[in-house]
Amino acid sequence: MVGLASPVSCSTTIASELATDCRRRSPELRGPETYTGKDLLTAHKGMNIREQEYIAAIDDVLSAMEKHGARQPERDDVVAILYSLKGQVIRV
Ligand code: HEM
Repeated sequence: MVGLASPVSCSTTIASELATDCRRRSPELRGPETYTGKDLLTAHKGMNIREQEYIAAIDDVLSAMEKHGARQPERDDVVAILYSLKGQVIRV
């Protein structure tokens, strides 16, 4: 399981932040994963991703979390954090 950190400190990578936050909030989700991918700006640069596509991606994440039994507070955190990352994904 990977996790997100605080919505206000989303500077590096989505997955490493997920790991930080899920470990803090949910000891049962503790995992060994470390994100080694690109930062979000680099990953999405030049794709001209639209707002609607971004919202659709968030909806998919939420559906997956629901399917796997994630609790409402964690789902709310993830929505807030993903939304806070929009400047690194939409039309960059
Ligand atoms: C909440 C929104 C999103 C997050 C958190 C996110 C996160 C990521 C991450 C972590 C990667 C991996 C980077 C790597 O390869 O190291 C990635 C890659 C990618 N994302 Fe997103 N993404 C989001 C939305 C979207 C949307 C809306 C699209 C397209 C409509 C998209 C298209 C892609 C593509 C094509 C790649 C592969 C880039 C490559 O291989 O160079 N992403 N994204």
